[in-house]
Amino acid sequence: MRKKLVVGNWKMNLVQPQALSLVESLVKKLSATDAVDVAVCPPYTSIAAVVQALKGTQISVGAQNVFWKDSGAFTGCVSAPMLADAGCKLCIVGHSETRGRFGKLEIDADDVGYFAETNRTVNQKIQALLYHSVMPILCVGETLAEREAGQTDSVIQTQLREALQGVDASELGSFSVAYEPVWAIGTGQVCDAKEASRVCGMIRRTLADLYDQQTAEGIRILYGGSVKGSNSKELFSQPDIDGGLVGGASLDPNDFTAIVLSAV
Ligand code: 13P
Repeated sequence: MRKKLVVGNWKMNLVQPQALSLVESLVKKLSATDAVDVAVCPPYTSIAAVVQALKGTQISVGAQNVFWKDSGAFTGCVSAPMLADAGCKLCIVGHSETRGRFGKLEIDADDVGYFAETNRTVNQKIQALLYHSVMPILCVGETLAEREAGQTDSVIQTQLREALQGVDASELGSFSVAYEPVWAIGTGQVCDAKEASRVCGMIRRTLADLYDQQTAEGIRILYGGSVKGSNSKELFSQPDIDGGLVGGASLDPNDFTAIVLSAV
């Protein structure tokens, strides 16, 4: 039986005093809950302070992105060993907001350089994180145009296959996938729970094809995209949904607590 995991992705929100006030509130509200694994992913600038504030609690801290080289002349980047050193236990990779998959890029594709993730750079990041024992949460998901063209499953299968190239089953003990349909992120338009579960089941079958059934059964598959306290129970009660990756609602201690408790 996989233990459910609920992760708050704060995105580019909260300065340090606000971050500390949010985690202080979460610690009080969630102190009696150990039936669910809980994590928050603050912006880099608050990671150290949040790690310190959550010491001795059951809430883990993660990052929202990573660069795949350990060190070097990569201005503005943060590496996997730096995240591990700062106390991060997990890291989001391949989020549609870092892939630049809002449907269209806001800047010319040729000018994006290192910062628009591709399946190949996501693969490099996963390998770097696993090497440094930071759990990757690999985000996959289709755009609205891809869904409407009937390409949902094939897009996600390609994302999984290419992101996991060269990664051995033995390394996947600490690894999660988040199904985040791009059209459901920040729109209030949550994916129907049955359809989200169907896609998460398809993700598990794809992992079983790439590896084996036992490995696939051990990997937690989360749903993300407009998760709220009002819809999380139905989502988390689906057989193939092992928790959530929560954006906007993770900034509200009451809503995030309700989401976590609905996974119990
Ligand atoms: P929202 O919960 O704000 O839709 O964001 C989801 C998300 O992108 C989590 O990574």
